[in-house]
Amino acid sequence: MTASRTRIGLSAPWIDERDEELVLEVLRSGWLSLGPTGPRFESLVAAAVEAPHCAAVSSGTAGLHLCMRLAGVGPGDEVVTSPYSFVASANCAIYEGGTPVFADIDPRTYNLDPDAVVAAITPKTKAIVAVDIFGYPCELAELTAICEQHGLSLVEDACEALGARYRGRPVGSHGHPAVWAFYPNKQMTTGEGGAVTTHDAGEHELLVSLRNQGRLETSSWLQHGRLGFNYRLDDISAALGIGQVEKLDRILAARRGVAAEYADLLADVDVELPIEDDVDHERSWFVYVVKLPAGVDRDGVMHRLSDEGIATAPYLPSIHLQSYMRERYGFREGMLPVSEDCSSRTLALPFHARLERADQERVAAALRAAIA
Ligand SMILES: Cc1ncc(COP(=O)(O)O)c(C=O)c1O
Repeated sequence: MTASRTRIGLSAPWIDERDEELVLEVLRSGWLSLGPTGPRFESLVAAAVEAPHCAAVSSGTAGLHLCMRLAGVGPGDEVVTSPYSFVASANCAIYEGGTPVFADIDPRTYNLDPDAVVAAITPKTKAIVAVDIFGYPCELAELTAICEQHGLSLVEDACEALGARYRGRPVGSHGHPAVWAFYPNKQMTTGEGGAVTTHDAGEHELLVSLRNQGRLETSSWLQHGRLGFNYRLDDISAALGIGQVEKLDRILAARRGVAAEYADLLADVDVELPIEDDVDHERSWFVYVVKLPAGVDRDGVMHRLSDEGIATAPYLPSIHLQSYMRERYGFREGMLPVSEDCSSRTLALPFHARLERADQERVAAALRAAIA
């Protein structure tokens, strides 16, 4: 253990004086929820992703859950989604009594393989939750066509992809609902928090009601027109979000720069680097995940790096193999070989907008030594 060296964490938010001022302003106003700051934040998010409507919510998970309501998912329905994701993208279907059906992924992009999606569709399928994993846009054109052909709803889990672009336009601008998350490891943060952007005024109205205990636009405080939730985002969090969106371009550019440094530093290390952008897909850098060669002891690598004061994480375990999924649905190893192989070999390195070159050099040297 190199005790004299500072520990390099996996992620870090970028908070500055402007964020502090905005939060203080709300605290001093005394208007901590349902005030004017929420709508201001929502307009900025909507503009950033080129969507006409935005409903801020208390988390990305809450946003995904509400999108299952938009899609009309209920008991007996199936929702096709990716096993190589964070659990929330599958759990949202279960919350509404639906069943997640996993389709395997593309080993290059780690996103849903459209052919596997088609194979997973049954007469019970109601929706597809497509994830932009690690900020790399999923195959939206193919998935949209599949949804149109089969009469399914498309929900985009863009929780990791704020700022990504598909076919030259921002993720979020393509018509279907998109869900965003602002936990502190994300590109921008509100502490806890999330949002759903939509292109349909009716969907937006429903989201606004559902997140606010089912109140209707015309309801007084204690009148509830439908079963809803408390999935509101408070104004303190929204104020932080305003500061973050204001510097989103700088954050995204800095993260892109850090990723480019890693690509340079790791060029001679025996790992697969994250794929490059192409004409259709422009990544928003969320994490920096490398794939270790088959047979390398990932836990051993992680321990070696930890001993050097470097945090890493085994992003991402396959959701179908989580213990509660196995118990509930009988899922087993071998069902989704591509996802399972990626899950056994992928590793997230420290990554955030203000990671310094010297720290990246330390990470690269430690990884090189651990793999050798
Ligand atoms: C792909 C994906 N979906 C959903 C979520 C859930 O977001 P939250 O943690 O805000 O509920 C996350 C966040 O970790 C995520 O990465």
